[in-house]
Amino acid sequence: PGVPDLAGRHVVISAGGTREPLDPVRYLGNRSSGKQGYALARTAVARGARVTLVEANTGLPDPAGADVLRAGTAVQLREAVLKAAEDADVVVMAAAVADFRPAAYATGKIKKKDGQEPAPVALVRNPDILAEVAADRARPGQIVVGFAAETDDVLANGRAKLRRKGCDLLVVNEVGERKTFGSEENEAVVLGADGGETAVPYGPKEALADTVWDLVAARFG
Ligand code: C5P
Repeated sequence: PGVPDLAGRHVVISAGGTREPLDPVRYLGNRSSGKQGYALARTAVARGARVTLVEANTGLPDPAGADVLRAGTAVQLREAVLKAAEDADVVVMAAAVADFRPAAYATGKIKKKDGQEPAPVALVRNPDILAEVAADRARPGQIVVGFAAETDDVLANGRAKLRRKGCDLLVVNEVGERKTFGSEENEAVVLGADGGETAVPYGPKEALADTVWDLVAARFG
């Protein structure tokens, strides 16, 4: 804090939650507020980084000093993140990206019909942006950070996810009533591909963000 240890670094942060449209008025969405991603953006600016924030459906005011790009869906978010990652030193995927999207988009509003059951909604998988960025680093030494919200076996699931995604750091949140979604506070464990484990006690999302930047800065050496 107060030390410009990210000066000269370009960091790309995704924040918010994607919305996957069914028809012109409906979408599949999630409860991500984007606050953790915005806290990462603010703290990275404070530590001297050039920040590109790719936001999805947050409705939050732009953080001062960051370049803000907007994406609605997972496919749009992927495009924006991959492009921005081309010259990034760090990519942090804090956004809640929908794992699935409706297989078809109805150009007219889907109507209910008297005496008829609704048609099932077929889903297809979205691209895994984090896994893609981690597998195909645009720059040697680029640091890739992911997030995971888990409800049980938090650490075991987090370790498995870190390996599966191939990222350097994975911030594991336990999803609960008062933390994570929409809250100003968070509590997490940051897992490192090197086996490191950093517990961040319940507190402001800025504190968790600063711990992430401490671990990133240590990796730059
Ligand atoms: O697999 P899961 O959704 O739990 O992984 C969460 C992490 O992966 C987050 O960092 C999220 O931004 C990222 N993710 C992604 N693309 C997806 C799904 C998740 O980049 N399609």
